[in-house]
Amino acid sequence: MNILVVGSGGREHAVAAKLAEGKARVAVAPGNPGMKDVAMILDIKETDHEGLIQAARELEADLVVIGPEAPLLNGLADDFKAAGFRVFGPDQKAAEIEGSKSFAKNIMEQYQIPTGSYYVTTSYDEAVQHVQNQGAPIVIKADGLAAGKGVTVAMTFEEAEEALADVLLDGKFGEAGAQVVIEEYLEGEELSLMALVHGETVVPLVGAQDHKRAYDADQGPNTGGMGAYSPVPQFTSADVDEAVERVLKPTAQAMVKEGRPFTGVLYAGLMMTTEGPKVIEFNARFGDPEAQVVLPRLTSDLAEVLSELVAGGEPQLEWSDDAVVGVVLAAEGYPASYQKGISVSHLQFSRQTSVYWAGVKTEEDDLVTAGGRVVLVAERAEDLKTAQQKVYDQLQEKTTTGLFYRTDIGDKAIKNASS
Ligand code: AMP
Ligand code: GLY
Repeated sequence: MNILVVGSGGREHAVAAKLAEGKARVAVAPGNPGMKDVAMILDIKETDHEGLIQAARELEADLVVIGPEAPLLNGLADDFKAAGFRVFGPDQKAAEIEGSKSFAKNIMEQYQIPTGSYYVTTSYDEAVQHVQNQGAPIVIKADGLAAGKGVTVAMTFEEAEEALADVLLDGKFGEAGAQVVIEEYLEGEELSLMALVHGETVVPLVGAQDHKRAYDADQGPNTGGMGAYSPVPQFTSADVDEAVERVLKPTAQAMVKEGRPFTGVLYAGLMMTTEGPKVIEFNARFGDPEAQVVLPRLTSDLAEVLSELVAGGEPQLEWSDDAVVGVVLAAEGYPASYQKGISVSHLQFSRQTSVYWAGVKTEEDDLVTAGGRVVLVAERAEDLKTAQQKVYDQLQEKTTTGLFYRTDIGDKAIKNASS
């Protein structure tokens, strides 16, 4: 089986690696040079739909897997389908569940999918008035895509006001900030729960927990994700089943009813509140870095699973009981401005370690940084504590000048277990 994966981050490295474990031959476009152990790398941009379709023809691709949200929202899945390919990834209309937070909120309201209350407006004055009425803490979000950076959890009225000014007056998020979504502040533990979806078929994956803040103890700015782990023992299997029944399945059904049937990974960012799971956000793709800790636990052949799903079947998934902890190494300064071109070719790990490269490129035969999140290093073991110990032992032996990483990935679960 020939598979083309579109994307260039750590998530796509993990997807390509899992696909390549089976019988599939995998190509990635545009990929990054860190992925060449598992896939052929094609130098074609995500925005070059014609070029990608041409490459898929040459590869005689049986399946195209689209990783990131931007090409999905640009209609890449639609274009591949029109060209006759089988695609794992939602079309533009279905990807709106991630592309517009107000669209997602409307769906949830209409189909009684549990989420916090919310208010949408384009007017700064109305927004401020609403925040005044509701009081802090309160959450301010740019409506459109903002790479995980358009969200402010405001603990005070002043913080909320400032965030509203950033979005609505100063245009900090451009088009994505034409509207603002103001949300009820939810309290609880977070769970990233993803499912492979095709129409009304929903095949849940094991849960993971991301670490969105840049620094230890959830301090610092929100990022695309600084590390993750799976499983998440704070949640029982009954909690997860409840989230599948109350969130993932009804959402897939709602998308069918709305004439926007969803194919791909439906990702629910959940807050487990005292009233049960509530949706914080939907994504239309694998989480990054969640994919890097969930996929290593999958023992089924991913290529076969995805092919069966898009052909209308309902694949059964098998999982390892092992725990996986993954830590992101990011360029110092990320998510604000950071330096590029730092040499990282010395970052070699043992064969048992999973290494998923993201923001890297080759420069004069050297592997150097080209983005904020550079690489995710993951270890697996019989429990989270051992996996965490292994990953940090590995990292401590390395020189990481110009990079930084959190030293507490997985702590919440591990502290929970030992208390
Ligand atoms: P998002 O990009 O929507 O996932 O938001 C980033 C992070 O902000 C989430 O992982 C949560 O930690 C936090 N967050 C978002 N929405 C809420 C909410 N309604 N209540 C509390 N925290 C939130
Ligand atoms: N890790 C969160 C995301 O992929 O959006």
